[in-house]
Amino acid sequence: MIVETPSKVILFGEHAVVYGYRAIAMAIDLTSTVEIKRLDNKIVLNLNDLNKSLRLNLDEIKDIEPKNFGDFKYCLCAIKNTLNYLDIEPKIGFEINISSKIPVSCGLGSSASITIGTIKAVSEFYSRELKDDEIAKLGYTVEKEVQGKASVTDTSTITYRGILEIKNNKPKKIRGDFEEFLRNCRFLVVYVEERKKKTAELVNEVAKLEYKDDIFKEIDKIIDKALKVDSKEEFGKLMTKNHELLKRLNISTPKIDRVVDIGSKFGFGAKLTGAGGGGCVIILVDENREKELLKELNKENIKIFRCKMVS
Ligand code: MEV
Repeated sequence: MIVETPSKVILFGEHAVVYGYRAIAMAIDLTSTVEIKRLDNKIVLNLNDLNKSLRLNLDEIKDIEPKNFGDFKYCLCAIKNTLNYLDIEPKIGFEINISSKIPVSCGLGSSASITIGTIKAVSEFYSRELKDDEIAKLGYTVEKEVQGKASVTDTSTITYRGILEIKNNKPKKIRGDFEEFLRNCRFLVVYVEERKKKTAELVNEVAKLEYKDDIFKEIDKIIDKALKVDSKEEFGKLMTKNHELLKRLNISTPKIDRVVDIGSKFGFGAKLTGAGGGGCVIILVDENREKELLKELNKENIKIFRCKMVS
């Protein structure tokens, strides 16, 4: 059995969301896959992209300390918590093969994608179907256990898919015209550069800015407008406007700004997505000018992924 799981971008409201304002997140079709198959008496995990393998005895999994297992930690914690939640004592073993197209540590939720994929794969392997609410909750506990601290943004958006509003660490699905509008949008997610600072560091730096609240209020007004627009041109302009405000929070970089400029000039609009300090830019594509956009982007040393919303 193979489970394919999306990643996510923040369309509006990163950093503001830390202070009780809204953020709008979208699940995208840049995916990870978790394959699970039966194996007698063992649990084997293969991280295909990293060429790493781990073998465990069946009786080891439920008492394991995932944090001691490096790159395997999210997957192991997801297996352990799912088995505990479903009250399963594993009698049959399994092999899990994980592959991912999602760039890591750049705000796209690569670890949440693997976590949610593993929870689904393990529960389905034991023929115990979980509801989305249960999967999202389990995913959140895994991220919290592994990272010490977590936001529901990644695990919820990746579980429920489509578009979510996140406020005070609570997710709310947005359906209707706004979801339909975004279904017809084409995006490029551009991995621009490795992030130079961790999320916590950037959040702490933003916390020191006296004028931050004025910026968050402006971002909230952008979200009000974005939820009502029906033109890609307008939507793109709002993305670029959100980026201008993020720049004033000092979380952008010269290379991110260059890519955003290209995205705004040759697409409908662009902004950094996530905590900043490097990482990714999201561009709303103008289908009539996509060739020019790609030509300009290809002059930069970056990785480009064509994406759309998944629901
Ligand atoms: C990080 O992807 C987004 C931030 O708003 C932090 C958070 O929401 O936890 C910067």
